Amino acid sequence: MEHSSRRVARWGRAAIMASALAGGAAAAGGLTPIETLGRSMFFDADLSIGRNQSCAACHGPEVGFTGPVEAFNLTGAVYEGSVAGRFGNRKPPSAAYAAASPILHFVPVQANNPTKADALFVGGNFWDGRATGERLGNPAADQAQGPFLNPLEQALPDSACVVHRVCSAAYPVALSNVFPGACDIVWPADVEAACVSDAGMVALSPADRARVDQAYDEIALAIAAYEDSAEVSAYSSKYDAYLAGLAALSQQEKKGLNLFRAKGKCANCHVIDAGPDGASPLFTDHTFDNLGVPRNPENPFYWQATFNPLGADWLDLGLGAFLAGRLDYQPYAPVNLGKQKVPTLRNVDKRPYPGFVKAFGHNGYFKSLKGVVHFYNTRDAKPACPDPFTTEAEALALGCWPAPEVDINVNDREVGNLHLTEAQEDAIVAFLKTLSDGYFDPAAQ
Ligand code: HEC
Ligand code: HEC
Repeated sequence: MEHSSRRVARWGRAAIMASALAGGAAAAGGLTPIETLGRSMFFDADLSIGRNQSCAACHGPEVGFTGPVEAFNLTGAVYEGSVAGRFGNRKPPSAAYAAASPILHFVPVQANNPTKADALFVGGNFWDGRATGERLGNPAADQAQGPFLNPLEQALPDSACVVHRVCSAAYPVALSNVFPGACDIVWPADVEAACVSDAGMVALSPADRARVDQAYDEIALAIAAYEDSAEVSAYSSKYDAYLAGLAALSQQEKKGLNLFRAKGKCANCHVIDAGPDGASPLFTDHTFDNLGVPRNPENPFYWQATFNPLGADWLDLGLGAFLAGRLDYQPYAPVNLGKQKVPTLRNVDKRPYPGFVKAFGHNGYFKSLKGVVHFYNTRDAKPACPDPFTTEAEALALGCWPAPEVDINVNDREVGNLHLTEAQEDAIVAFLKTLSDGYFDPAAQ
C-alpha cells in the first residue's frame, strides 16, 4: 500500500513470552523453556494422523521456514498432507516472522487517498488473514491451531488427539513443565483408536474437554513463541548486519536497495526501514493486495474433486472471501476480493544450495526471484497470453503474461509497468539475496 510512513504495532518477542507466563532463563541452545517446547512440537511428525508429518514438512528451516520439497516447488507448489494424495491449495508462506504480524484490524482510509475504498485491512496470518489473532492475542498462535486439524495437512480429527500425543511425548521440556497441570486429563482407554480415524472424536467429560481446550491454546502459544524465537526469526541477514554498521553492501546490492525503495516501489508494501522504536524492518506492512498473479496451472487442487467441487473454475479470492464470511467485515468483502497478504521478504532467497528451486506468490506461480521482479516490471507492458493457464516458463518464452487469477481489485498504481532495465531487475534480485538469515550472529554483537 502507498503510505509507508504509517507504522503498525508489532508483537514483540517479549510480549509473547510474558503472555505465555514462561519467560525464564534461556535454556541450552539459547531458547527459553517455552520456545524449546514449541520447537519440539514444530518438528514432531507424531502430531499428524499418519505420524508422518510435522509443521517442518511444509516449513523447513533450510528454506527460511517455507516449502522444503523441490519437486513440489517446481510444479504445483502446494504441499501434500499427512493423508497421501490430499493437497492444500496455497503455497506455504514462511512461518518465520509470522508472530510479528498484528491482530487483524482495519484502518479507515484517509480522505486524501480516494484510491483505497472504505478501509485498509492490516495484520493476521495466512494469505487471507483468517488467523486473526483475536482468539489468543497473536495471529501466529491462532494459526498454529489450524494445521493439526486440517484434513489437507496433519489431519488429526480432534484437538484432544494433539493434546494426548503432546502429553505422551518425551520432549526435553514437557507441556506440563511450562504449563503446570496442562496434562491432568483423564483419557479414555481407546483414545488413540479415535485419533487414527478420519472423523474420530475422543469421548471426554466436560471438565476434561475444557482442560483439553486450554492445553490446546497453550500448545499454540508455545509454537508461536518458537516461531518468534531468535532461532526462527533471527534478524541475522547481511542487510541486518548492514543496518547495524557491520557489513558493506556490494555496488550491485546497493543499486538494488535504491531501486527497491524508489523506482521499483517495492518498499511501499515491503517495508524496508527500521521502525521509530528501532524495530528491525519486516519487509511487509501486513496489508493485502491483488497483484494480478496468474493461476498456477500445475496446482493439484484444481483436480481434487472432494475438496474442490469447482475444479478448474476455482479462484482463490483471498482476503475478500474471508471477510465475506464475517458479519462485521462483510461490507468490505467486495473491494478485497483477490487480495493476498504482503509476505515478508526475509529469507526469500534462503535455500539449501544455490540452484535449489523455490516457488513464490500465494500459489507458487513463480519459480525464480527474477521471474517475480520481471512480472512487477512488465505485467502491463506485455500482451496477455492466449491461455490463462500458462506456466511462468511458457509465459517467459512466449513474451506474454496470463490473465490475473482474480481480475478485479488489481493494483495498477504501484505495479505493472516499472520501466526497469534488465540490469536493474538483476540488482533488485541481488538485494533480495541479502535478506537471508545466518550471515552473522546478532547475539554476539
Ligand atoms: C501440508 C503442509 C503444511 C503443514 C503440515 C503446515 N503448514 Fe503452515 N502453512 C501451509 C500453507 C499452505 C499455508 C498457507 C495457507 C493459507 O494461507 O491458507 C501455511 C501457513 C502458515 C503460517 C502463516 C504465515 C503467515 O505469514 O501468514 C504459519 C505461521 C504456519 N503455516 C505455521 C505452521 C505450523 C506451526 C504448523 C504445524 C502445527 C504448520 N504450519 C503446518 C502449509 C502447511
Ligand atoms: C502494492 C504492494 C506491493 C508492492 C509495491 C510490491 N509487492 Fe511484492 N508482494 C506483494 C503481495 C501482496 C505479494 C503476494 C501476492 C500474491 O501472491 O498474490 C507479494 C509477493 C512478493 C514476492 C513473493 C514472496 C513469497 O514468499 O512468495 C516477492 C519476492 C516480492 N513480492 C518482491 C517484491 C519486489 C522486489 C517488489 C518491487 C519490484 C515488490 N515486491 C513490490 C505486495 C507488493
